[in-house]
Amino acid sequence: MRAEWPLDPTITYLNHGTVGVTPRRVLAAQQQIRDEIERQPSRFLLRELTSISVGPAGAEPPRIRQAAAAVAACVGADPDDLVFIDNATTGANAVLRSFPLAAGDEILVTDLGYGGVTQAAVFAARQHGATVRTAVMPSPVHSGSQIVDACVAALGPRTRLAIVDHITSQSALIVPLARIAAECRSRGIAVLADGAHAPGAIPLDIPSLGVDWYIANLHKWMWVPRSSGILWSSSARKADLHPAVISWGLDQGFTAEFDLPGTRDPSPHLAAPAAIGMMEEFGTAAVREYNHGLAWDGARLLAERWRSAFDTPESMIGTMATVALPAAMGSTADEAVRLRTQLLFDDRIEVQLHAYSGRLHARISAQIYNDLDDVERLAAAVIRRMPASLT
Ligand SMILES: Cc1ncc(COP(=O)(O)O)c(C=O)c1O
Repeated sequence: MRAEWPLDPTITYLNHGTVGVTPRRVLAAQQQIRDEIERQPSRFLLRELTSISVGPAGAEPPRIRQAAAAVAACVGADPDDLVFIDNATTGANAVLRSFPLAAGDEILVTDLGYGGVTQAAVFAARQHGATVRTAVMPSPVHSGSQIVDACVAALGPRTRLAIVDHITSQSALIVPLARIAAECRSRGIAVLADGAHAPGAIPLDIPSLGVDWYIANLHKWMWVPRSSGILWSSSARKADLHPAVISWGLDQGFTAEFDLPGTRDPSPHLAAPAAIGMMEEFGTAAVREYNHGLAWDGARLLAERWRSAFDTPESMIGTMATVALPAAMGSTADEAVRLRTQLLFDDRIEVQLHAYSGRLHARISAQIYNDLDDVERLAAAVIRRMPASLT
């Protein structure tokens, strides 16, 4: 499988989840699209790409809508409710800038949330005299109910919007999003779901989750080239939702507004059908199952070698897993950076390391180019660095 990916063969790459890796075949499909664009750029970008056209000779439906329809079919969505965005951060900003906050209102985030998205919430709140409340999640997590209970307990009378991850970033947990959304809905609180890691990693039917908006990346687990993500909106919320960057589509409807964010390279989005096609050829469920199995087995292997507790239920693990390092490896962010750098430059292992809850944690990503030997290599490299008295 390594041959399908352009990765440096001398590196043990356990970090697929961070910025994704694009398969060679999908990169080739993207290059074909770029070549097609460059044959007649203005025709492609001004007539064929979106519904906002300078005149006839457009594609029907527009090229960006054809690609959006292919992605929508993978996530159970109506194509009219789904637009491409550059990344999850862009989608979060669109929702947060559009949401009608008033002074004294509260946005709920959790301490498992992604820092960049939380910063966007802080900025939006600041603009309106609103505040951001951070729900503290249990650690370690033994069940999804713990997360639901902690979120519900943090909802207050002024909470207007809750940002809930579908799969958390550092701790790599699948969150019971639908249950949290139901609790929020019954209190009249809107939910922005952050599914940055979900498409391609877990089965996904966005409309059934009961959220107001869903943002996700395609460039992580869907094998789509960077930069490509999606923003889904419930029908009720579409009219008031605007991109953070306004262009020609203003007042021409949800898809028209997002489909043309000024001149940009649309080839990552347009390559999405090629990525979907490749994954279907390999077997979408088979890919997911292999990745999940490797993340799960890898986590248990690390926990055993490092003598760490790992009692996360398997149902909360997708294609990534986070395991605490031995206590002797330190507990601070500086120690995490130092070790991560040593692992990369001395051992040629790329992996995410984070410091929280008084320990360093490793997050392994499992993609079809990995196998258990990669995880063994990480386990051994960490043990080699442990103070001799503790090994
Ligand atoms: C949960 C979550 N949300 C948002 C993001 C941001 O993704 P991007 O940088 O592609 O916008 C990430 C990135 O890893 C993430 O893990």
